[in-house]
Amino acid sequence: MGVTFGVLHPGEMGAAIAAQARRRGASVLWCPTGRSRATRERAARSGLVPTADLDELLDRVEVVISICSATAAVQVATQVARSGFQGLYVEANDTSPQRCIRIAQRLMHSGAEVLDAAIFGAPPRDNGAKTAMYLAGRRADVETMTLVFAGTGVEPIRLEGDIGTASALKMAHAGYQKTTAVLAAVAHALAARYGVTEPLIAEARHAPHSPLAEPHRLPSVAARAWRWTPELHEVADALEAEELPRDLALATATILFRWHDDKDDASLALDTVLARLADPT
Ligand SMILES: NC(=O)c1ccc[n+]([C@@H]2O[C@H](COP(=O)([O-])OP(=O)(O)OC[C@H]3O[C@@H](n4cnc5c(N)ncnc54)[C@H](OP(=O)(O)O)[C@@H]3O)[C@@H](O)[C@H]2O)c1
Repeated sequence: MGVTFGVLHPGEMGAAIAAQARRRGASVLWCPTGRSRATRERAARSGLVPTADLDELLDRVEVVISICSATAAVQVATQVARSGFQGLYVEANDTSPQRCIRIAQRLMHSGAEVLDAAIFGAPPRDNGAKTAMYLAGRRADVETMTLVFAGTGVEPIRLEGDIGTASALKMAHAGYQKTTAVLAAVAHALAARYGVTEPLIAEARHAPHSPLAEPHRLPSVAARAWRWTPELHEVADALEAEELPRDLALATATILFRWHDDKDDASLALDTVLARLADPT
């Protein structure tokens, strides 16, 4: 389908989704202004078309997806709303339902249509595996996304319910997944102090898919802490809005912050990651 599609911005997930849209014939634009070298290289590898600035991108696209981080979601949406964008805006960051609704109201007030999206799974590749994209909003807008991604590694799935529903799904999942990963790191840090890492892993292996059984994954948790910390604050907001306990989400965010300076560092060793958990005070 010949839709013109914009991605804000081509991170690991955004570039992979954009590449899938290209497979279906969409022309995909991105805006290099202010972006890092890593993002520029990903965009080039994915065959995305650069624009001179954000206004040019928004003038040329029918659909734009915001997929950067929970922290940047409001800023990106505000820039798009200020431009008077009249197309379809897909809010795909890990934000609380309340924040997503505020973002949507701002954009709709300026003339855009909005879909609330929740993405699950690894970035899509051409390997037959599917990355799920749950969508809440107008049926016609969901159908547009279905056409854009039909037969690709992205599977749009319509949710019943208004904007905020997909965000709620994501918050429920993120709160569980990220908290268990951080609990595993704390458990490994303690076990390492007493030299009992091996029996800890042996016991964890009795429980299928336990993060405790896979400490080699913990450096990637530390490298993503800069992004997960604000996401856990979004989870806490979502829980508080429903008068549910937010303590675990906030505590997880506090622990994640100890890895704040390890942003995207793929070379981190596990013992370094665990050592960071010791309170320096
Ligand atoms: N990766 C996954 O497996 C996965 C799975 C499910 C959902 N997601 C969701 O997808 C979103 C992006 O994740 P990702 O893995 O693609 O992250 P990523 O690889 O770190 O990419 C983030 C992108 O957003 C840009 N960005 C970061 N901070 C920004 C800011 N303040 N203003 C404008 N742009 C900013 C980055 O540009 P610079 O390079 O210039 O900083 C980069 O292009 C997140 O909301 C995440 O929860 C990811």
